Amino acid sequence: MTTDTIQVWDRGVRIFHWSLVFFFTLSYLTGDEIETVHVYSGYTIIALLVFRIVWGFVGPQHARFSDFVRPPAAVIDYLKRLKAGNPPHYLGHNPAGGAMILALLLSLSLTTFSGLKAYAAEGHGPLASNEFSLVSPAYADHDDDDEVGEDGKKKKKDEFWAEVHEVMGNITLSLVILHILGVIVSSRLEGQNLARAMVTGEKKLPPEGR
Ligand code: HEM
Ligand code: HEM
Repeated sequence: MTTDTIQVWDRGVRIFHWSLVFFFTLSYLTGDEIETVHVYSGYTIIALLVFRIVWGFVGPQHARFSDFVRPPAAVIDYLKRLKAGNPPHYLGHNPAGGAMILALLLSLSLTTFSGLKAYAAEGHGPLASNEFSLVSPAYADHDDDDEVGEDGKKKKKDEFWAEVHEVMGNITLSLVILHILGVIVSSRLEGQNLARAMVTGEKKLPPEGR
């Protein structure tokens, strides 16, 4: 059995990944409490997402979207072979992992965007001026902007984005849990610790040499 390893994850991907883990956890835990920490942690995630998207086009081979984004049929085929206990090895992300990465990046983008909109509805952040310039001052506080909630209290339409943001935060969390389960299953099947590989950047050479 070979113990040869090869450098797969470049420093950019590794720093991106563990920074994202840190700031996602921080953002999630501070959602209800420390607003300044929450907002700056969220801005950092936006910067990380921008970096990763650019890196997906200009980074090294295994960081590129072209290396791991595959058509749905290829993802389904991979999952069938995974179920049968005999998935093909990939040096970079496998097709299911690639689909999960796209889902995570999209969900994180929607979470941060809805966060920016919720913050703007409170009159803060980079989208705040946008928010208010669309509303003529004469109508800005008009009662039509309010709805009556079930408890009889007035519920601002402004809360729309806060609610979208909360739902998106929880969808992202569900994807993260699935992602971690996927990493555990793939690590067992490949006989290597993939989380460690995301730290060192090195993976064992697969038998087929892909
Ligand atoms: C991936 C990054 C983020 C995550 C996981 C996240 C998560 C959360 C969570 C769980 C809440 C509490 C929701 C509730 O229970 O009411 C929250 C609230 C909030 N977040 Fe974020 N957030 C993120 C990014 C951002 C960003 C970038 C901004 C804007 C700069 C932002 C602005 C807000 C605001 C204003 C609230 C309070 C909303 C309200 O009025 O209830 N968030 N966030
Ligand atoms: C402690 C928990 C986590 C562990 C052990 C972990 C582990 C990993 C591993 C091993 C990979 C590479 C998968 C492969 O070999 O194909 C990966 C990729 C990835 N993970 Fe995680 N992850 C964790 C948490 C998270 C969280 C919280 C997020 C997002 C909020 C996340 C987002 C991603 C993304 C976007 C990638 C793709 C990396 C890239 O190509 O840039 N992970 N993760």
